[in-house]
Amino acid sequence: MTAQTKSRWSFITDSRVWRSFFRHGWPDNPLDRSLTMTSNVFFHLHPVKVSRRSIRWSYSFGLGVISTILFAVLTFTGVMLMFYYVPSIERAYPAMKDIQLTVPLGEFTRNMHRWSAHAMVLVVILHMVRVFYTGGYKRPREFNWIVGVFLLLMTLGASFTGYLLPWDQLSYWAITVGTNIASYAPFVGDTAKSLLLGGSDVGQNTLIRFYTLHIAVVPLVMIVVISLHLWRVRKDGGLAANDAKTESQKQK
Ligand code: HEM
Repeated sequence: MTAQTKSRWSFITDSRVWRSFFRHGWPDNPLDRSLTMTSNVFFHLHPVKVSRRSIRWSYSFGLGVISTILFAVLTFTGVMLMFYYVPSIERAYPAMKDIQLTVPLGEFTRNMHRWSAHAMVLVVILHMVRVFYTGGYKRPREFNWIVGVFLLLMTLGASFTGYLLPWDQLSYWAITVGTNIASYAPFVGDTAKSLLLGGSDVGQNTLIRFYTLHIAVVPLVMIVVISLHLWRVRKDGGLAANDAKTESQKQK
C-alpha cells in the first residue's frame, strides 16, 4: 500500500472500531505480517512462516481440510434430520419416508448426509495415505498420527452407528451381521455384542443405543479429538514440508 493510499484510508484504519478488529498495521513489514497471522482465528492455524511446498495443492490435496469440512456438513445436515427423525422401531422407518417424500428439502438433506458420510470415509483414508507417503507420521508428528488413527476409527464408528437408524431391512441385517462379527473378538466379544445390542437381538434397545452414540457420543468426542489434531498440526510446525525448509535454512 502506498503512503498516499494509506493516508486516504487512515480515517477508517485509525478509528477505534477498526483497531479493535485489526490489532496490527498493514502487512508490509515482518512484524505486521507475523501479527496478521497470529491474530486471525483462521490464519493462526498455520505457523507464521510456511514453505511454498507445504501450501502447494499437490502436496496435501487439502484432504485434511476437506475431512474437516465434511465433518461440519455432516453435523449441520444431521441436526436438520434430527428435527424429524424419531428413534423408535415403530416410527423410525415412516419418519425416514416422511423426510424423503414430504419434508421440504428433506431428500436433499438426507442425501447430503449420506454422501458426505461415504465421502468422509474415503477422504480420511486418502488423507492418511497422503500423510504416510510424505512421511508426515515421523518425529515429532508420531503422536498426531496416533490421534489420526483414533479419528479414522471414529469416522468408521459414526458410519456404522448411523447405518441402523433408517430401520429398513438393509440396516437391520447389516447391524445383525456387524454385531455378530464383534462377538468373535477374543475375551471381550460377547460383552461388546450385548453392550451394543442392549440385549441379545437387534431391537428397540439397540436403536436407542446406536442413536445416542451416533448423534451425541461419537460427534462430541470427534469435535474434541479433531480440535486436538489441528492444534497438534500447528504445534508440530505445520505440515512436514515446512521442516525441510528449516533444515535447508540451517545449512545456509
Ligand atoms: C476426521 C478425520 C481427520 C481430520 C478432520 C483431519 C484433519 C487434518 C488437517 C486439517 C490437517 C492439516 C492439513 C492437511 O494435511 O490436509 C491434518 C494433518 C495431519 N493428519 Fe489428519 N485428519 C484426520 C484424520 C487423520 C488420520 C486418519 C491420520 C493418520 C492416521 C491423520 C494424521 C495426520 C498427520 C500426521 C498430519 C500432519 C501431516 C504433515 O505434517 O504432513 N489424520 N489432518
